[in-house]
Amino acid sequence: MRIMKYSTKTGSLAKQKTDCLVVSLPQAKALAKELGVSSAANLALSDFSNKPGKTTQLVLTRSITRALVVGGVTGKKVSQADYRKMLSAASAALTSTPGKSAIWALATLDVADAKGSQWTTRNALSSLSSAFYTFDAQKKDVAKPSIKSIAVHGDGNALKGIRQAVAIGQALDTGMALARDLGNTPPNICNPNYLLRISRKLATAPKVTVRSLDEKEMTKLGMGAFMSVSQGSDQPGKMIIIQYKGGKAKEQPHVLVGKGITFDTGGISLKPGPAMDEMKFDMCGAASVIGTTKAVIDAGLKLNLVTIVAAAENMPSGGASRPGDVVTTMSGQTVEILNTDAEGRLVLCDALTYAERFKPKSVVDVATLTGAIVVALGSQAAGVFSNNDKLSQELLDAGNYMHDRGWPLPVWEDYQGQLRSNFADMANIGGREAGSITAACFLSRFAKAYPWAHLDIAGVGYQGGARKGATGRPVPMLFQYLLEQA
Ligand code: BES
Ligand code: MN
Ligand code: ZN
Repeated sequence: MRIMKYSTKTGSLAKQKTDCLVVSLPQAKALAKELGVSSAANLALSDFSNKPGKTTQLVLTRSITRALVVGGVTGKKVSQADYRKMLSAASAALTSTPGKSAIWALATLDVADAKGSQWTTRNALSSLSSAFYTFDAQKKDVAKPSIKSIAVHGDGNALKGIRQAVAIGQALDTGMALARDLGNTPPNICNPNYLLRISRKLATAPKVTVRSLDEKEMTKLGMGAFMSVSQGSDQPGKMIIIQYKGGKAKEQPHVLVGKGITFDTGGISLKPGPAMDEMKFDMCGAASVIGTTKAVIDAGLKLNLVTIVAAAENMPSGGASRPGDVVTTMSGQTVEILNTDAEGRLVLCDALTYAERFKPKSVVDVATLTGAIVVALGSQAAGVFSNNDKLSQELLDAGNYMHDRGWPLPVWEDYQGQLRSNFADMANIGGREAGSITAACFLSRFAKAYPWAHLDIAGVGYQGGARKGATGRPVPMLFQYLLEQA
């Protein structure tokens, strides 16, 4: 993991010394005038197609090795959509720019309906970090960008907001990179024990403790649903508990719960072969809550946080559970396992019951839970399910702020009937219709003791195809949500 180093810069743009100055066309033209640049540079500026998504590079002065000119600023205000296009074009262009450091002069842009330079900076950092992320743990010839540090330029009133945004953004980007690394790490390395080892590293910071429950302890606690998944694997399952005490001693904690299926074969209800490798990403919920916790610790947020990771591998074996098995959950409710591939809800339900002991202010679980959410929302939005409208709205707002969006879906009583079983209190699947909703309905039966939300991230957590890899979502949404709580 290599993290971009962010800082701030102030003072006149013309006097800056840098390998690359990132500016809009109006800024570049003003600079050219002030500095009296070559006719070649002037020609390049007048020929430039000033559209969002376009960039060009040229030489302005001796001390600024190159200027990266970003298209899109024509009038006074830039729309949010155009700003995003500018961010992705500029970030992409910077990844192939030579030199070690850059100055980013786009944070003071006037973006329509935006929340000032704090917002422009937060979103710029997030775009830059996404573009600069590489994963090269097992493959050495990965194109590595040259730029190692970026200073965000601002002055006057904007500077304070930019400074705060850089400090917070740096913490968020570190957490997001951790989430992506965990997701991308192959499943022969990233097993439940590995998630525990990485989580333990968080405890080197003050106010953080990490502990775990092993299978023996979970059996003793009555976590029959979790154990029914884990029992099919040679890799021992773990319930990982990370506690961060950044708030007052008596303050109720917020709780994050992550689905950490380090590989999902489907179990005896075996998945089909094509793209099964992508089921290494079935721990992206766990990765996102661990990454968010890292960001919260780095940012030193003044709140108490408990992060619970339900880590297990879903394998078919002589010890695996069968369709038809009935298990007793920690809550005492019994479940008929009709499909061993609906394992996420089985590990999560016991984690949700376990969460009660922390008397949570809120519980948010994050899971690559259903293929159906990919059909419903694609890779644009996470499904947001909740038993509490305020909590749900706070998550949606946080997602909007960072453009890491969610969309609400109902957890109505009307759907609960689909989980009826002849042999247990409920079945673990609800039939063909509304698959993501019945999965959420299943979880809701274990989350009655507190305000609860469930994020189904099967669509947003990772990408397939040529750009296959973990996205680090929804770390920005979760972190922003907690930032607002602190
Ligand atoms: N991990 C999968 C969900 C998933 C599917 C994530 C595709 C990403 C892409 C989950 O454990 C699962 O297998 N869900 C089943 C549930 C079904 C058996 C009710 C599904 O969605 O098909
Ligand atoms: Mn499954
Ligand atoms: Zn799964």
